[in-house]
Amino acid sequence: METATIIELPRFLDSRGNLSFVEQLNHIPFEIKRTYWIYDVPGGGDRGGHAFKKNQEFIIALSGAFDVIVDDGQQKKIFTLNRSYYGLYVPAGTWREMTNFSTNSFALELGSIHYDKADYIRDYNQFLELKKDGKL
Ligand code: TYD
Repeated sequence: METATIIELPRFLDSRGNLSFVEQLNHIPFEIKRTYWIYDVPGGGDRGGHAFKKNQEFIIALSGAFDVIVDDGQQKKIFTLNRSYYGLYVPAGTWREMTNFSTNSFALELGSIHYDKADYIRDYNQFLELKKDGKL
């Protein structure tokens, strides 16, 4: 998948409580090498203005809501995540920002590579240059 896409996950609705799940290479197009989560973000807060060179991500709002702004160097799109049964697939080489966190929101992120500081691009102008030159 070349563009950021919302992926809806299976849901088992049950009066005892609902259940959803995600499987690598089935619901999402990559093998999961890393799982991390963001919590206790002050209401209205922002995180993660950067792009990854190789890492693909799947971001789920397990609780609460937040927006993910994705930018492929040509076009920006805003996705609001506010349900635990869908998430946003973000391909490598995408600038993304997470904003507008609701109080007590909980963001789960699945990644395709282990943590690698060198995989981050944190400078937006550098990101645009790399995209323009076809290097990202
Ligand atoms: P970072 O990705 O910079 O957060 P954000 O872009 O949302 O501001 O991560 C914050 C810190 O956490 C950074 O110092 C590195 C560390 N970190 C890890 O050690 N492993 C990880 O998998 C992640 C995502 C971050």
